[in-house]
Amino acid sequence: MNQYPMTVSFTLNGEKRTFATAPGENLLDLLRRSGLRGTKFGCGQGTCGACTVLLDGRAVNACLLFVGQVEGREVCTIESVGSFDKSSEIQQELIDGSAVQCGYCIPGIVMSATALMKAETKYDDEIVREYMDGNICRCTGYEKIWGALRRVLDRREASLAKVEGSGSKS
Ligand code: FES
Ligand code: FES
Repeated sequence: MNQYPMTVSFTLNGEKRTFATAPGENLLDLLRRSGLRGTKFGCGQGTCGACTVLLDGRAVNACLLFVGQVEGREVCTIESVGSFDKSSEIQQELIDGSAVQCGYCIPGIVMSATALMKAETKYDDEIVREYMDGNICRCTGYEKIWGALRRVLDRREASLAKVEGSGSKS
């Protein structure tokens, strides 16, 4: 019997892809069995954030999404953000700030922060908490993660304000 009798097509990390799947398969399982293992399984119930990916630019829990729900849409995983060889700014700041212990939560945290940076231009503590609320870290106590996020977001906010300021003068 064919384990995966149907297909689903969506844009994955910028590429149009079609996958064989089964009714009821969730996106997290599909990604991981397809070799994209940066997205982690934690709780499987939408409470830990380890499986966070972007769906049409918004952070979602891949463990809660049936693959049928992503048909024709755009999914981005941690693999599109950075790698061991080429870390994104936020990944590098987390490393430099000693904010990574076991590292299991980090891909999800990076994806939620990426969603925040895509959607917003001002990063007060309240909005950062709102975006990061669903990501649990069991090792670090959050302080160093928070510090790393704040440094990246403060830099980004300052540079966006600069661009805005220079635009308004012309
Ligand atoms: S594995 Fe999806 S939220 Fe925990
Ligand atoms: S670093 Fe281990 S769960 Fe966050």
